[in-house]
Amino acid sequence: MSVAKKEYKRITVKSLVEMKKNGEKISMLTSYDYSMAKIVDAANVDIILVGDSASNVMAGHETTLPITLDQMIYHASSVIRAVKRALVVVDIPFGSYQSDPKEALRSAIRIMKESGAHAVKVEGGIEIKEPIKRILNAGIPVMGHLGLTPQSIYKFGTYTVRAKEEQEAEKLKQDAKMLEKSGCFGIVLEKIPAELAKEVAESVSIPVIGIGAGNGVDGQVLVVHDLLGMTHEFNPRFLRRYMNLYEEMGNAISSYVADVKSSDFPSDEEQY
Ligand code: KIV
Repeated sequence: MSVAKKEYKRITVKSLVEMKKNGEKISMLTSYDYSMAKIVDAANVDIILVGDSASNVMAGHETTLPITLDQMIYHASSVIRAVKRALVVVDIPFGSYQSDPKEALRSAIRIMKESGAHAVKVEGGIEIKEPIKRILNAGIPVMGHLGLTPQSIYKFGTYTVRAKEEQEAEKLKQDAKMLEKSGCFGIVLEKIPAELAKEVAESVSIPVIGIGAGNGVDGQVLVVHDLLGMTHEFNPRFLRRYMNLYEEMGNAISSYVADVKSSDFPSDEEQY
């Protein structure tokens, strides 16, 4: 169905709820630095996620667990300097909100104050209800994240599809309801059956953004380096690559090396 789109000069949490109501799909992409965020924002992506996937993509860690609050604030403030339109959401990193609601609030406040971000995202359901409430009570918008939650990878053991069994699916549905009732402005659903994701999206009034969660949700999120094909070893079924930048960048850099070695670069026109 094609939907007449309203022009948004600046995306807010209210615009997102309005988009869901109007049946307009929401686009969300990661960015971790100024230059990428400038391109992503200029392309009218609605939500820019400063994901803790920066731990993998930018720092080369195996999981999202090692990235620190200071590092997330550094990435987020670089992104914020570039963005004019998108809503910028920042992941609160592992270990900075789970143990104590007061610590969760302190972490969220640091992100908002030191980076200028617009909202935070946390992973989990009922287990982190109190931290979520504490952050929301301070007036900070919170996005939930259910399904495959990479900060709990050592509990799951693998990155395979979550909530295929009835019991886990039931808990996920209840967690989504809890996030909505607590006042979260949106939920990311990662790597769960499309049917279940659709049911969840239809059961809540807040936007549900999927990654590997099918087309029955209110929007989609991808890691921008995956979409551009800068990463090439990660090949999940849900990933659509729009470019093969790994190859293109490699070819460009090899040409530069060859030009330097052959003294072709710089030419007479490329010097003073
Ligand atoms: O950190 C991240 O990039 C994320 C997305 C995969 C949703 O949480």
